[in-house]
Amino acid sequence: MAAPKRERWGSRYGFILAAAGSAIGLGNVWKFPYVAGENGGAAFVFIYLLCVAVIGLPVLVAEILIGRASQKNPVGAFKKLARNRAWMGAGAMGVVGGFIIISFYAVVGGWTMGYVVEALRGALLDFNSPEVAEQQFDALNANPWWVVGFQALFFGVTMAVVIGGIKNGIERFSKLLMPVLFVILAVLIVRGVTLEGASEGLAFLFSPNWSAITAGTVLEALGQAFFTLSLGMGAMMTYGSYLSDRDNIWSCAVQIVVLDTLIAIMAGLAIFTTVFAVGLDPAGGPGLIFQTLPVVFNRMPWGGLIFAPLFFVLLTIAALTSSISMLEVIVAYFVDEMGMSRRKAVLIFGGVAMALGVPSALSFNLWSEVKLFGKTFFQLADFVASNIMLPLGGLLFALFVAWSWGWNRALPELAKGAERYRHAWFIAVWKVLLKFVVPVLILVVLLNAIGVL
Ligand code: PHE
Repeated sequence: MAAPKRERWGSRYGFILAAAGSAIGLGNVWKFPYVAGENGGAAFVFIYLLCVAVIGLPVLVAEILIGRASQKNPVGAFKKLARNRAWMGAGAMGVVGGFIIISFYAVVGGWTMGYVVEALRGALLDFNSPEVAEQQFDALNANPWWVVGFQALFFGVTMAVVIGGIKNGIERFSKLLMPVLFVILAVLIVRGVTLEGASEGLAFLFSPNWSAITAGTVLEALGQAFFTLSLGMGAMMTYGSYLSDRDNIWSCAVQIVVLDTLIAIMAGLAIFTTVFAVGLDPAGGPGLIFQTLPVVFNRMPWGGLIFAPLFFVLLTIAALTSSISMLEVIVAYFVDEMGMSRRKAVLIFGGVAMALGVPSALSFNLWSEVKLFGKTFFQLADFVASNIMLPLGGLLFALFVAWSWGWNRALPELAKGAERYRHAWFIAVWKVLLKFVVPVLILVVLLNAIGVL
């Protein structure tokens, strides 16, 4: 019996938007500003940008390439392409990473959904000062039902879209809404930059203080680069597996990286101008945007009534287009390798991931004092998955393409849909980066961070 034809993206544009939708999410708007804030600003931003260009882009190309060449989920991809079955472990780590990331990601996705409701009820209008905004954020989080309830809702919507499949679910959803988010961020920047005292925020974001940099900061920056580009766990591999041979992987990858980085910088601009103008602490932690933005919205004409709900709706959608890609990795694995139906895989493993996420949700209330290695469940899940597993996954994917699969297979595959770039200079650069620079840098950062180097 012939295998059923694998689903494909409706168009190349659909793939780019879906992949950019995966990349652009809470990582850019929520995580980037708060992690940059905690790590001293500009110097961190600089290292992050370097990681994106030198490590992120080459690994992104490698991931999409493995996905398209194999037309499989991350585990199946290595089963099909690798001579040594041990490589399947790299794919399996991605599936496990997917469970961990979605489990804490959904907490923040739940916050954004919860804020949509707060905005619509008019409650955000009371967030007039940073102190009040902070208190209100803490008060909402003190109620475990609020956090877990919205987390579950966020999971529910993610699962519903993934059941819909590639073209109808994921692609259609992404296409429409990304451009609108872009416009709102632009409006927020204009407001932020014109607030009194905004220039301090600009200095924080762009003029580096190198003395603030430690091994931990560099690890954070590397982890952030992987997280924000959805790299290292096979999400881009899985999306690449729905791509056809007519598409040019290079140009897709460059567009994804540029869009994702642009949105992160825009979010940084919007947040830090405001943080400094209203006198908030840039190192305020994961609540940063939830405590900052409502205050700015209230300083704009109609801001609290129109922009606040619209912004949180769009951020929720940006978060969903990312969580969908995490769940898609898990589901593709169970569908391809275990022969499960899409629906069943979503219901079972979405449910498992949701249960796994509850300790992260409780980290902000009942279990705030429960710590492992000095971190709450939420912090630990984020740290282990984003800063360790993703870079490690990226390292393995790079090693696989450069050292095991071999250029004689990788390069003709890369040339499909991009014949005229066959001998372009950037292919030569990519080879050197992937073979030497990426593995060495990732290893040095990881070993350094655990204190071995
Ligand atoms: N890149 C997403 C974001 O920035 C998060 C993500 C990580 C998605 C890993 C998929 C895989 O929000």
